[in-house]
Amino acid sequence: MSFQALVTTKDDSGKVSSSVETLGEERLPEGNVTVDVDWAGLNFKDGLCLTGAGGLVRTYPHVAGIDFAGRVRESEDERYKTGDEVVLTGWRVGEAHWGGYAQRARVNADWLVPLPEGLTTRDAMIVGTAGLTAMLAINRLETLGVTPQSGEVLVTGAAGGVGSIAISLLARLGYQAVALSGRPEHAETLKGLGASDVLARDDFLAQPDKPLESARWAGLIDNVGGAILSKALKQIKYGGAAASIGNAGGIGLDTNVLPFILRGVTLSGIDSVMQPFANRTAAWARIAKTFDLAAYGDLVTEIGLADLPDAAKRILAGQVRGRTIVTLQ
Ligand SMILES: NC(=O)c1ccc[n+]([C@@H]2O[C@H](COP(=O)([O-])OP(=O)(O)OC[C@H]3O[C@@H](n4cnc5c(N)ncnc54)[C@H](OP(=O)(O)O)[C@@H]3O)[C@@H](O)[C@H]2O)c1
Repeated sequence: MSFQALVTTKDDSGKVSSSVETLGEERLPEGNVTVDVDWAGLNFKDGLCLTGAGGLVRTYPHVAGIDFAGRVRESEDERYKTGDEVVLTGWRVGEAHWGGYAQRARVNADWLVPLPEGLTTRDAMIVGTAGLTAMLAINRLETLGVTPQSGEVLVTGAAGGVGSIAISLLARLGYQAVALSGRPEHAETLKGLGASDVLARDDFLAQPDKPLESARWAGLIDNVGGAILSKALKQIKYGGAAASIGNAGGIGLDTNVLPFILRGVTLSGIDSVMQPFANRTAAWARIAKTFDLAAYGDLVTEIGLADLPDAAKRILAGQVRGRTIVTLQ
């Protein structure tokens, strides 16, 4: 049976473009589980894959989409049977392996997790890689000793996917979550998700730079890297911790040792791509219990396959708010 897919190609001049095509099942890559995809997500990394930026995709034609949720169509693996609802994030699917921007995907069973109890496949893609990573970051901060009683947690890139879900999760878990955003027009929306305060990116960066600054944050969830991470590290309180997730603002990190040796600050990296199954399922179960999907509704945008090339450019330009999900059925 044929299916629709957004196929990304690269021409002889190196130009990367995508169009919706009808493919036969013989075009699917190797794998032991075939999934009818209900929903896929749009993430910053999808923007890179669809535009060719960052060199993440090496083989064309390609089907991007780093996360998706759907129903098992056929399985050669005993852990999954036809009709089971499943979620996929990470494992370089959508980069090195064909991903979720198609009505059908074929993957390795090891990469799947069962749809968490209490979530629909649409809910799972509202959360997506972004929400899973936000949860992993909160879990890591807690492992490093951050609690709701420790004080405020700063979330950077707050109007984006990871940032907005991190704000919502932190607030539901009893934390004071402070949002840092380059788009002050979203301040009320972020407060609606539970942000206790919203800081403007320009004001934050305009403060004079010192090796160590006034200590404010018990924890930091950073989605942007670069100058913002450098500055925020200098403002973490004694014994606090930072989770570095993303590089939407740059891969650089210009810092000094004082936050670490005088305040005992920990900087910890979060990777959602290669997380073991047990960590994934534990994080998904905590999300299903914690995340306020109803309150997040205004931050969800639904699009179709043909809308993706334009949406990819917008997410790379920092113009997408909350989560964008792609309907496939
Ligand atoms: N480590 C992992 O496993 C993992 C998993 C998921 C995502 N990520 C990474 O985390 C980051 C966020 O992902 P996402 O899906 O949430 O992307 P997103 O929806 O595009 O959000 C990124 C946010 O960063 C801010 N931003 C964008 N450009 C910026 C710039 N030049 N300088 C400063 N801030 C900027 C914007 O927030 P404001 O408008 O509010 O400032 C934007 O909404 C990306 O770098 C992504 O690759 C990593």
